[in-house]
Amino acid sequence: MKFVRNDGSKKTVVPPGAELVLPPEIGGLKKPVTRSRNLRIFPDSLFISESLMDKFVIRGGNPLVGNVRISGAKNAALPAMAAAILTDEPVILENIPDVRDIQTERKLLVSMGAEVELGYGRAAHRTTISCKNLVNPEAAYELVKTMRASTLVLGPLVARMGRARVSQPGGCAIGARPIDLHVKGLERLGATIRQEHGYIEATADRLRGGHIIFDKITVTGTEDLMMAATLAQGETIMENCAREPEVVDLAALLTRMGAKIEGAGTSTVRIHGVEKLHGARHRIIPDRIEAGTFVIAAVLTGGDLTLTNCEPTHLGALIQKLEECGVKITAAADSLRVTNGHQLIAADVTTEEYPGFPTDMQAQYMVLATQAQGTSIITENIFENRFMHAQELVRMGANIKVEGRRAIVRGKTPLSAAAVQCSDLRASASLVIAALVADEETIIDRVYHIDRGYERIEEKLKGVGAQIRRIGEILPRRAAAPSVVA
Ligand code: UD1
Repeated sequence: MKFVRNDGSKKTVVPPGAELVLPPEIGGLKKPVTRSRNLRIFPDSLFISESLMDKFVIRGGNPLVGNVRISGAKNAALPAMAAAILTDEPVILENIPDVRDIQTERKLLVSMGAEVELGYGRAAHRTTISCKNLVNPEAAYELVKTMRASTLVLGPLVARMGRARVSQPGGCAIGARPIDLHVKGLERLGATIRQEHGYIEATADRLRGGHIIFDKITVTGTEDLMMAATLAQGETIMENCAREPEVVDLAALLTRMGAKIEGAGTSTVRIHGVEKLHGARHRIIPDRIEAGTFVIAAVLTGGDLTLTNCEPTHLGALIQKLEECGVKITAAADSLRVTNGHQLIAADVTTEEYPGFPTDMQAQYMVLATQAQGTSIITENIFENRFMHAQELVRMGANIKVEGRRAIVRGKTPLSAAAVQCSDLRASASLVIAALVADEETIIDRVYHIDRGYERIEEKLKGVGAQIRRIGEILPRRAAAPSVVA
């Protein structure tokens, strides 16, 4: 075993398998470096891990066989953490995934004055958030630019504190992604909005109920305004709402906190505002996108994989589409099994809001289409620029032509290993799947994108037979002021 001692200045390359020695004043703890993002951030520690430079090296060809436990849904955990702002009592959340976006949200809440504790050992996926002493109702650009879902604090902050200052997120890799619908909705609830210096500032003595008809279906917009409306005076009716399971999960948490919500999961949601919300304990739903990603990986490697702790009813559109392609999937109450030996047939797909085919599964499905017999037309309806993985897949031998919002995939083409680069979270997942299918060794760069939303993906894949390893380096620097153990 190698040990690396940080002198706080030089760039230190830490190979996986090394141990990082923390300063004696915090116990001289040794942290194993299996993957850099797993490092803990301690107050006054000399280290903050950055996995910006990490790469995956994947040798394709192994079938995925065995069991994978699906983690809690990142996209349900993020609004649930923001919901803690609505009360001065502790909110305890279970099944929180250990992914970078969750760490970012913790940092955000801590920067506002919240106390965020993480459980240890068997309770490693539990977090307790206390927003008793919120002093700084602001989401700074540094955090919002790394995670757009930071805008989820906008509604809860105005509702509880009467004021919020949230950086405008700007564009991102997959499209413009404005937050105008969040802003318009808050105005409908009586907030005064000012936009200057790249920030949105919302103020209100107390929000009042209103009628909001979303111009377009927005997931985090529905969540943001649902949270805001829980503490508004009177009734709010929201129409054309997102119906995603993550919205329903948030409503379940808010209801446990004392909110009065009807219709979550349908396109019309009614919220009767209350004076005060209280603390609650809530278990986050399983991650349907992580589950779907493993399903496609199992299909394409000719494996026999059982996914546990998942919710097959949230995967209806994907399962139906895969069955159309000739895949055999067996679903039980909280597990899914995919068995090998499928001759895949091409099938067109169009991404839609839930319960339609999720845009977050489009990139992974594209890899499947490269291995199916015939032509698949993939239409991306939700985001305008979500085909960046196509170019990387072409470099690996796929036959894909992108025409605006449509990608035409002709299969079946063998995939060959190459050096490729991640461009966003789900695109990264597609490259991992492609690498598992390709011959020889693929090197995937910029895996920090995948670390945003997939918990220990390389360990999970390795556990079911994949040949995957993380290589990387750590850039040590003095910790800014972290007060959480992430
Ligand atoms: C959420 C998910 C993301 C998923 C997406 C679509 C989280 C944290 N993220 O993102 O993984 O890919 O839903 O299922 O839950 N729009 C506007 N104005 C707005 C808000 C959205 O024009 O104010 C547009 C967007 O640009 C996009 C469409 O509406 O074209 C849908 O976006 P939205 O549902 O808001 O996505 P997110 O909630 O950001």
